Amino acid sequence: MWVHYILRLRSATRSFAMASAVMLSCFLFFLLCTSHAANHQQTNFLNCFLEATGGSSSSPSKIYTPNTTSFSTLFRSSIQNLRFLSSGAETPSFIILPSVDNDAQAAVVCGRRHGIRLRVRSGGHDYEGLSYVSFSSTDGPFAVVDLSGLRSIKVDPAARVAWVGAGATVGEVYYHVAAASPTAAFPAGICSTVGIGGQFSGGGIGSLQRKYGVSADNIVDAKLVNAEGELLTRETMEEDLFWAIRGGGAANFGVVVAYKLLLVPVPPKVTVFSVTRTLGQGATRLLHSWQSIAPRLADDLWIRALVRAVGEAPVNRTIQATFQGLFLGTRRATLAAIKKSFPELRVRAEDCNKLSWVETNLYLDGRAFNNTSVLLDRRQVYNISFKAKSDFVRKPISDKAWEGIWKVMMEAEEEPLVMILEPWGGRLWEIEDDAIAFPHRKGNLYNIQYIMAWLETEAAASTERHLTWMRRLYDYMAPHVSTNPRAAYLNYKDIDLGSSREEGRTSYKEASAWGRRYFLRNFEKLAKVKARVDPENYFWNEQGIPPFAA
Ligand SMILES: Cc1cc2nc3c(=O)[nH]c(=O)nc-3n(C[C@H](O)[C@H](O)[C@H](O)COP(=O)(O)OP(=O)(O)OC[C@H]3O[C@@H](n4cnc5c(N)ncnc54)[C@H](O)[C@@H]3O)c2cc1C
Ligand SMILES: *[C@@H]1O[C@H](CO)[C@@H](O)[C@H](O)[C@H]1NC(C)=O
Ligand SMILES: *[C@@H]1O[C@H](CO)[C@@H](O)[C@H](O)[C@H]1NC(C)=O
Ligand SMILES: *[C@@H]1O[C@H](CO)[C@@H](O)[C@H](O)[C@H]1NC(C)=O
Ligand SMILES: *[C@@H]1O[C@H](CO)[C@@H](O)[C@H](O)[C@H]1NC(C)=O
Ligand SMILES: *[C@@H]1O[C@H](CO)[C@@H](O)[C@H](O)[C@H]1NC(C)=O
Repeated sequence: MWVHYILRLRSATRSFAMASAVMLSCFLFFLLCTSHAANHQQTNFLNCFLEATGGSSSSPSKIYTPNTTSFSTLFRSSIQNLRFLSSGAETPSFIILPSVDNDAQAAVVCGRRHGIRLRVRSGGHDYEGLSYVSFSSTDGPFAVVDLSGLRSIKVDPAARVAWVGAGATVGEVYYHVAAASPTAAFPAGICSTVGIGGQFSGGGIGSLQRKYGVSADNIVDAKLVNAEGELLTRETMEEDLFWAIRGGGAANFGVVVAYKLLLVPVPPKVTVFSVTRTLGQGATRLLHSWQSIAPRLADDLWIRALVRAVGEAPVNRTIQATFQGLFLGTRRATLAAIKKSFPELRVRAEDCNKLSWVETNLYLDGRAFNNTSVLLDRRQVYNISFKAKSDFVRKPISDKAWEGIWKVMMEAEEEPLVMILEPWGGRLWEIEDDAIAFPHRKGNLYNIQYIMAWLETEAAASTERHLTWMRRLYDYMAPHVSTNPRAAYLNYKDIDLGSSREEGRTSYKEASAWGRRYFLRNFEKLAKVKARVDPENYFWNEQGIPPFAA
């Protein structure tokens, strides 16, 4: 959705050189040519993996090195944020493409034996690129385990469950669940190309969250390869590990190869609507009311807000707020519900569309919704760089404060920026803070995501300018959002919260800088689980959870 908005906005105001393709492949070529020459450690890892998986070096089909012709295509295949292709970050020495669970086990066993760390990639949407590049100062070679070959989806509509390979995208899950039963769905995000491996293990917010909670609330089993290379299920892993991978980020604990999902009931047809208001049309008042109303609506009704500055500065610049809604019922019932609880939104019958729930994901993403096969398309949709940050709001922001925020947003040379406000309440308020590792529950009115995107072809200096502006807005928002700690959502990963660059050596104290903000009071328990299941911190990353130390 936001990408769609941003690009529409950009192309309306500027024109772009289309030499981007050439520039990018040059960058990539440069990166690959400077990557490490194979050394002993790497040869041993390669041979170990080939032996364990029955492959041979003349016909490698599951392990790729930069010498393999398809390496760069595979590396790029699911990268959504092009910023990390030209950031100077370390790229992998290997890409492993498992086709059976045992391949992931072999990667862990051989990796530990020969000192090669792993980055696990499902859909490749990580906001800081941590599933495929490394910012470690120690420059150890690493392998990406790309799970895109493990994405079988087995739906049991009678039992209302599905087993899904962790390399599947949410679009694939939605499509196959709907194909098996038009009245079944799964609560997750709207963008169809996002991988379930990252999204479900970090929470998973979306249009069904008020009725059914986040994705992680609806996971009932998982298959995970631990740091010993063992393949565990819920039955064979300690209960706290299963707790940890539902909101704590699976990357800290192992390689999830599959999840078992509890499907939720939806009517065969639901209602979606979208209304847009500018400042002159009362956007500020509406947004002010929305803050208190949206989290307390009936669970069947979800209304989010997207806010952005539009128009040429300074004369025609204004703020525009779009309210997108989903109601699990008929158009008539939608209008009645809005009239009762949020009449000032003035939703009309012609603002509504009657769709199946699976189609609403395309609608809410601003795409044509008459052909759900596009949900199966895993390819990256846009060639852009972006930066995002997040906040949680616990007290309504005053009209006056919003006016100050609009001023900052409209003054910015650095447009376009989108703020996405996702309502809390309903099931999210009922579930206890420590029921699973995902901690953001009662007390939150809504989540804010700030996103800014630009074209990769713009110079590196432009990237820095965008990042600087984003930090300025984030500082400006501080008095209006949660404090002590200022909470953040793991799936909107933000390296500015702190990071460690020394492989495997993050201290518990150092990690508290980001750990307490992503996980609140669940951080300590997560680090204690980590100490039991991966005491050597093999599954390390720059913003990971280290073993607990008092
Ligand atoms: C366009 C867009 C729209 C989005 N919309 C939403 C939304 O509506 N709701 C929402 O909640 N989030 C949303 N997100 C955020 C998204 O949920 C996160 O970026 C998520 O981490 C991406 O998961 P992935 O598998 O695609 O990413 P990856 O880059 O593959 O992985 C992300 C992280 O998870 C780890 N990981 C991935 N798979 C596994 C696995 N199988 N085992 C262990 N670790 C694993 C990776 O190592 C990495 O640390 C959106 C992101 C984008 C880019
Ligand atoms: C993105 O760039 C790649 C390589 O430069 C190109 O092949 C692809 O078509 C582009 N995709 C879009 C959506 O523009
Ligand atoms: C890649 O090719 C180079 C040069 O041909 C060779 O020295 C190196 O060992 C190869 N690396 C791997 C991992 O096969
Ligand atoms: C503002 O918008 C109007 C109407 O679209 C247009 O005629 C005018 O040129 C714009 N002014 C500026 C400064 O962009
Ligand atoms: C969907 O709509 C678009 C544009 O409105 C049209 O071109 C396309 O043929 C339609 N597809 C289907 C499957 O009806
Ligand atoms: C629907 O979308 C798929 C995938 O993009 C495409 O292959 C197919 O032709 C489309 N069908 C119609 C009828 O437009």
